[in-house]
Amino acid sequence: MIKIAPSILSADFAALGHDIARVEAGGADQLHVDVMDGRFVPNITIGPVVVGAIRKRTRLPLDVHLMIVEPERYIPEFVAAGADMVTVHAEACPHLSRTLAQIRELGAKAGVALNPSTPPVALQYVLDDLDLVLVMSVNPGFGGQSFIPGAHRKIREVRALLGERPVDVSVDGGVKADLAKALAGDGATTLVAGSAIFGAADPAAAVRALRDAATAR
Ligand code: DX5
Ligand code: ZN
Repeated sequence: MIKIAPSILSADFAALGHDIARVEAGGADQLHVDVMDGRFVPNITIGPVVVGAIRKRTRLPLDVHLMIVEPERYIPEFVAAGADMVTVHAEACPHLSRTLAQIRELGAKAGVALNPSTPPVALQYVLDDLDLVLVMSVNPGFGGQSFIPGAHRKIREVRALLGERPVDVSVDGGVKADLAKALAGDGATTLVAGSAIFGAADPAAAVRALRDAATAR
């Protein structure tokens, strides 16, 4: 079973409730919320206040992707605002196992994101401390970028490293329906998509199209 996680980065921020309702109607499994600080990545998006506002509008799990430096300073606020999953970047965390423990102690699922240039071995010593791995298939910072093909191999390597552990492997960046089947075959369990869903005329249909493509025989 593949999960579809629309990234609200490509939604209409002035009509977020409306856009969220559209992807819920399409059967989205969770919402992916991109948090950027203008330091870890060259763009600024939203903080805990908006996560709290989204929390009031949907029962879907909120998958909060922190593209920020020193994430440990803000993790409690994001969990209090309603994040179900909190993903930090390996590159932003000198004390990664401590940060993952912090997330779990607050009652959320702990995720690690890897930039395209970061090897899977960065996960080697935290394999039992995480609930999800987010394989970046673009350099983070913006929606609408092109998928970097090296992510296919990265997903397979992460899967092999995880062994039998029940850890989700998400892929984030440039995901479109024509890639979905291959990504599921690589071992991805969650497809994050922003522009492919919210850039479509009918976001609900776009969620269904991604799922159908991922599960096609
Ligand atoms: C990129 C973000 C992604 C992005 C995906 O920095 O982490 O979640 O919104 O958008 P698309 O699907 O348009 O690449
Ligand atoms: Zn993201």
